[in-house]
Amino acid sequence: DQQANSTSSAINVVRKKLAGYVGFANLPNQVHRKSVKKGFQFTCMVVGESGLGKSTLVNTLFNTGLYPPKENVEPTHETPQTVEIQSITADIEENGVKLRLTVVDSPGFGDFVNNEQSWKPILDSIESRFDAYLEQENRVNRRRMVDNRIHACLYFIAPTGHALKPLDIEFMRRLHTRVNLIPVIAKADTLTEEEVYAFKQRILADINYHKIQIYQAPAYEYDDQETIEENREIMSKIPFAVVGSDKQFEVNGKQVRGRKYPWGVIEVDNEEHCDFVKLRQMLIRTHMEELKEYTNDVLYENYRTEKLTAMGIQQDPTVFKEVNPVQKMEEERVAHEQKLAKMEAEMRAVFQAKVQEKESKLKHSEEELYARHKQMKEALDKQRLDLEEKRRRLESGRPITPEKSAKKRGFTFNK
Ligand code: GTP
Repeated sequence: DQQANSTSSAINVVRKKLAGYVGFANLPNQVHRKSVKKGFQFTCMVVGESGLGKSTLVNTLFNTGLYPPKENVEPTHETPQTVEIQSITADIEENGVKLRLTVVDSPGFGDFVNNEQSWKPILDSIESRFDAYLEQENRVNRRRMVDNRIHACLYFIAPTGHALKPLDIEFMRRLHTRVNLIPVIAKADTLTEEEVYAFKQRILADINYHKIQIYQAPAYEYDDQETIEENREIMSKIPFAVVGSDKQFEVNGKQVRGRKYPWGVIEVDNEEHCDFVKLRQMLIRTHMEELKEYTNDVLYENYRTEKLTAMGIQQDPTVFKEVNPVQKMEEERVAHEQKLAKMEAEMRAVFQAKVQEKESKLKHSEEELYARHKQMKEALDKQRLDLEEKRRRLESGRPITPEKSAKKRGFTFNK
């Protein structure tokens, strides 16, 4: 009875107390050591019109000259015709932890007279990265998987102080199901504190109205009060009002990163001045793994399901049976042969119908031809007889006068 119970229902788990130390409490350390050895990898995309400070912010975030200084880059006067996708990868290390960071940029976005399709190359790039991953998953050998999927997209909103532009809405609407969207207000130092506050409210209202899903840190049952509070604070700052800078200034005897104004310095790392610290905290310090997990478990998974369903592959969620690959191949072979046989029969039927149609058409035109031929032959015979008659008369030298001819046909003339 007990056996039947254990097979029919879920596996019975019994709670047991250990009599002494076993050692699996060390599991987290094993994972920790392994992941540190392997290193981490993160791919972030930055999108926004040119000049909004994307490269400066990335350099400020990772405290590295990932983007070369603009003064060293030759200015180009050619206007790009399309949105390009460019990526920079760098290996960075902090306290022995290695991070392979890739930043994907999209120069040209929003810079044209007509920006209607600006979002398209970016969406294509995100989806083709999913496709590449899916293709690797389906390979026989999956040992060396390369993951180029985008884990987060920083979307730069111009500091207009008004509301979102149609292009901002269109971009977010098109992309929110494919990538973790993190909206930021660029160059927030150009707005006053009140302006930033009002601008944030309007942006959030627009995002709500258009049902755009921006990244939300998940809450877990096991989260302690401190984590819950920390997450709430981070989330309350979205869209992050950011300031980037690669320059340092002295403030109260300390070197700080910031932007200098006649009335003082706006400090990048000062939470009273902007939300840079909160953005960095979320993106790098607390939620990098969450962003990767959400990309894999939700965004990629949904894409994968949509793609496979569109290809006609279905899965009955109520049936979980062991798949025997040989049996599956045999089933597929039989199904394929049946399909081929059906197609062949259909083609044969169509071919026969066509032949019959052609034959009856031919028969019909043959009959028509024959009838016409007969008609022409009769007309020709008649003509020939008439001509022979005329010739005979001419040869006999007796011209036929109109009177004689009329008399012959039974007419009389009154003289
Ligand atoms: P593209 O490479 O053309 O796409 O530009 P970008 O978006 O990468 O902008 P970039 O970082 O090159 O910055 C453009 C200009 O804005 C530079 O002169 C920066 O010094 C300045 N800038 C960058 N960040 C900020 C900021 O937070 N506030 C202000 N006021 N200026 C900034």
